[in-house]
Amino acid sequence: MKAITVVPGDPGQVRAGDVPEPVPDEGGILVQGRLLGICGTDADIVLGQGYGWAPPGRDRLLIGHESLGSVLEAPGGSGFAEGDLVAGIVRRPDPVPCVPCANGEQDFCRNGRYTERGIKERDGFGSERWRIEPEYAVKLDPGLGDCGVLLEPASVVAKAWDQTEHFLTRTSWRPETALVTGAGPVGLLAALMGVQRGLDVHVLDISDRGPKPGLVADLGATFHVGDVTGLGLEPDVVIECTGHGPLVLDVTRVAGPDAVVCLAGISAGNQKVEAAFDEINRELVLENTVVFGTVNASRRNFEQAAGALARADHGWLERLITRRVPMAEFLDGLRKHPDDVKVVVDLAA
Ligand code: BGC
Repeated sequence: MKAITVVPGDPGQVRAGDVPEPVPDEGGILVQGRLLGICGTDADIVLGQGYGWAPPGRDRLLIGHESLGSVLEAPGGSGFAEGDLVAGIVRRPDPVPCVPCANGEQDFCRNGRYTERGIKERDGFGSERWRIEPEYAVKLDPGLGDCGVLLEPASVVAKAWDQTEHFLTRTSWRPETALVTGAGPVGLLAALMGVQRGLDVHVLDISDRGPKPGLVADLGATFHVGDVTGLGLEPDVVIECTGHGPLVLDVTRVAGPDAVVCLAGISAGNQKVEAAFDEINRELVLENTVVFGTVNASRRNFEQAAGALARADHGWLERLITRRVPMAEFLDGLRKHPDDVKVVVDLAA
């Protein structure tokens, strides 16, 4: 079968070529791959330096962690049947395992020895067929069709909101406004889930060209460009999705009293900023601000995400998928085109 394999850090080595069929040891469910989503992590693995690891003893990684496919065969009693629309959970527990990994919370792994499909020491989903263990497969509403490829990024956002809500339980006060920074797929899904929670959602992006302002408006949220400190907003919740250092610092400053600031983005940048940290500290302390980071997602978050996508307007979700490339053009898919939101690989092409 055909698969996309890479040597991390070497774009010259990206290959869409023949690999052996997946073996039953990789999981009892056999899936016909449909689409594979591409994100910044894939670009970092292929184009960057130092992220992404092939399985032990190999130099090539079968890439891809944003999966969508339909079940070809599933073990009896697994809860899955031929034709089910499914996606795979990305992270696997460390071998020790640490306490969170032993309890299905490998997204909180404490020793860093977890593995991730398509990212860290474990083959991913960028192949015509893949296998998965039933406990790591998630069933999707069949009506979602191709939009099911958004499940994995939506799971990361579902965890961000789940954790944010955890911190919000510390007082009886309820938030009203949310600011999402970055209108990429993660930011737009964060805005969707904010609107689903009944919040007045504002989305800030670096540019107002392309489909993003329309997508935000059609959610019933407000789109902004420009400097976050000039918006006149004091959000109760911030979901920061850019990882851009100076903006991260600024959002902690504009956040209102008792706010929760969730850092859900990373960048490959190396920004240095001079900051008035004593003053920032004073503001954070005197306003009870929570600033926290979040990565990856547990099965619970995948299920929350599946629910959020099922409840969303499927026409709106479809508009997030702005470009499709065949396997042979994966490298071009990694390179940002001006109006891209989510680029996907068609695993049948
Ligand atoms: C993926 C996560 C993963 C993280 C770090 C993200 O792009 O969505 O599942 O944990 O990268 O490897």
